[in-house]
Amino acid sequence: MDKIIMQIPARHAFHCPILIEPHLLDHPNKWLSTDFLGKSLVIITDENVRKFYGNNLLHNLMNYNPLLLSFAPGEKSKNYQTKQYLEEKMFQHQCGRETLILALGGGVVNDMAGFIAATYMRGISYIQIPTTFLSMIDSSVGGKTGIDTVYGKNLIGAFWQPASVIIDRHCLTTLSRNHFVNGLIEALKIFMTSDASSFQYVTQHLDEIINQDTFMVDNIIRRAIKIKIDIVSKDEKDNNLRMILNFGHTIGHALEKQSDYTLLHGYAVALGILVEAKISQLSGLFSLDDYKVIQSLFLKLGICGSWLKTIDREEVIEATKLDKKIKSGKVRYILLKKWGQVCSEDNNYAHFVPDNMVKKALLEVSEV
Ligand code: GLY
Repeated sequence: MDKIIMQIPARHAFHCPILIEPHLLDHPNKWLSTDFLGKSLVIITDENVRKFYGNNLLHNLMNYNPLLLSFAPGEKSKNYQTKQYLEEKMFQHQCGRETLILALGGGVVNDMAGFIAATYMRGISYIQIPTTFLSMIDSSVGGKTGIDTVYGKNLIGAFWQPASVIIDRHCLTTLSRNHFVNGLIEALKIFMTSDASSFQYVTQHLDEIINQDTFMVDNIIRRAIKIKIDIVSKDEKDNNLRMILNFGHTIGHALEKQSDYTLLHGYAVALGILVEAKISQLSGLFSLDDYKVIQSLFLKLGICGSWLKTIDREEVIEATKLDKKIKSGKVRYILLKKWGQVCSEDNNYAHFVPDNMVKKALLEVSEV
């Protein structure tokens, strides 16, 4: 048998600059090369972000003559139909392989615009411009793109790295408290699983952070991103280490789907963290005292396990069956050991948990 080996050395030389500075949207010359003058530029955003920042960015990029496309805000828009609508607009404007997409918005826009970039004419460049706390900390970094289907969240997608990530922290000034907490949960998830001292930092300064103390929020964004890029650089395609970023998400995604996406992602993940930390505790891996720390921290953020009384536990367990960590038909979970550390052996970070254990944890968390 002849064996021919293909090598793609360029794959290993990928760089993605991440710029963090207030008012970057007002100064595109700081992040957009004039090489793009005369080429086609498409801003993809949602209708809310369009009003707050999209029209202004369009104005600031006047010399580049960009096309601005927007869609209805919210997770319910992250589907095939919206993707097709946006792609058709791009075809009608003769966008080609040289086209650069600017993904301006929160997680939904990041995922949608990134997935269009991954598949349009087999892949074009894009820049992530996150405008929410959640997307600054998590979804804009690392190249996960995708859409939801009736079967579940983010089930169709691609790993497609952005050319750069532009974080204008000034965008947080228009964010509601709920959306701020939504992002803080993802930061807490990163710190609980990877960085005990940052977790302690948030618990000790919670009031100032909730009041959006500029220095502290900046600090959290930088710490979370540093951890995330370290993880992604070791496991871009989510085969092992990157799975720890999925802590709280097996249950979280199922709850989002069950709520018909009325539950914000961060809040669903917070409930998922409570359940998955409870599974860790019931399995004798994580202490009850530490579980109670999470419980009281989330209560301060207005998140209580009793919310789970409103759900059908069997349906939630059923909704986990298409989780992307599934192996040999069995659902796997990330389990916490102690602050900053998850359970792992031999580069395996996801663990089978029987349905009856998940059911018990769902029940115990709901009985606060
Ligand atoms: N949001 C989890 C990840 O990027 O892996």
